[in-house]
Amino acid sequence: MSINFPVKIVKEGLAKIAIPDPSLYTNGKRVEPAWAPVFYNPRAELSRDLSVCFLAVYLKGTDKEVILAEPLSATGVRGIRYVIEVNNIKKVFLNDIDKKAFKLIQYNVKLNKIEDKVEVGNEDASLFLLRKKFEGEIFDVIDLDPYGSSVPFLDAALKALKRRGVLGLTFTDTAVAQGVYPHKALKKYFVFAFRTPFSKELALRIFLGYVAREAAKYDLIIRPLFGFHAEYYVRFFVQIDKSGREAHRELLEKLGYIIYDKKTGLRKVLSISNILASGLEKGEVKLGPLWLESFAEQEIVEKMIKEVEKRKFRLFKKEIKILKLIRDEIKISLPFYYTVTEFAQRFKVKEPSPLRVVQKLVGEGFSASLTHFDSKGFKTTAPMEVMYNLFLGGST
Ligand SMILES: C[S@@+](CC[C@H](N)C(=O)[O-])C[C@H]1O[C@@H](n2cnc3c(N)ncnc32)[C@H](O)[C@@H]1O
Repeated sequence: MSINFPVKIVKEGLAKIAIPDPSLYTNGKRVEPAWAPVFYNPRAELSRDLSVCFLAVYLKGTDKEVILAEPLSATGVRGIRYVIEVNNIKKVFLNDIDKKAFKLIQYNVKLNKIEDKVEVGNEDASLFLLRKKFEGEIFDVIDLDPYGSSVPFLDAALKALKRRGVLGLTFTDTAVAQGVYPHKALKKYFVFAFRTPFSKELALRIFLGYVAREAAKYDLIIRPLFGFHAEYYVRFFVQIDKSGREAHRELLEKLGYIIYDKKTGLRKVLSISNILASGLEKGEVKLGPLWLESFAEQEIVEKMIKEVEKRKFRLFKKEIKILKLIRDEIKISLPFYYTVTEFAQRFKVKEPSPLRVVQKLVGEGFSASLTHFDSKGFKTTAPMEVMYNLFLGGST
């Protein structure tokens, strides 16, 4: 097997691992694992020890034989240690997108004489997980240990995991979730994160919350089994189970906010269901978060109208009607419409024609248009009182 860079054999746990000779990748005295052709970070030994230990404890006492995937393996050290140090491991799939890593993993698998239990892959981690699933192989345990965030691989992992399977995740972008870069926290995890004295726990909980939200999309729930923060990273293991009803409850009750007062240091905890109810008058509900700006561009819609006219599709009349309604309604930059039905029911009056309502409102100097969303609907910038008068006054 051709490894075309100098290696050194190290012992970690019960495994022997060939790693790129660290003496060749130093910055002063400090070894820089990222400079080496294949990544091996001795500072992550604690992460691997605790992961091995967690899995051994989790599987102890079961006679279940598990299939595990580590789709971002680098030298293979983590997965190889699982095979050697944890009972009940039937098979491990190791994978890395990097060719040199792929070869080094194969070398290390041989070095530890575990070829019968290990299959090695060389492709993108998500592709690898989804392809395996497509081929009928789903996993009891998936361990994601990437550079930075586990987010890019989470979706595929959720899909490739067996029911009640266990997902291990590493996040090294802890500064983001610790509130050092609030704008990045909003972009990446859609959370508000600011620096606090308890930022390290905040980070772990932000990542857990993110996984719970992603899982809920598929009616999956998470059961956190073990997690910790150390040095520059957060690591945790969650069991993933299927339950539509629980996934809904989990989002409402198990996710939420900490309200932290920078002046006094006071901390308050509010679940999503608390937040939903707070600051509302009787009868009000919160909707969202949702997109508040326009849903189409004027210029594109105009061009589409011309294009549909030119192409004369079988349904062109209907299509032109929709496009013209859209063209008009996007001039009104409000993220909602009204219906004549809602006013008629509220005021117990006959339902007027929406076109008539629009004409009246325009006549009174407000912007108003029909909407393609609903044939009984209209959009307007007119305040509610104006519409109350309009409907109650019977002038429609
Ligand atoms: C932090 S290292 C993994 C360390 C390893 N799990 C350990 O415990 O020592 C991340 C690895 O992911 C690999 N990688 C990066 N992007 C990838 C992708 N899209 N698919 C698969 N592997 C990827 C890199 O080549 C690198 O070897």
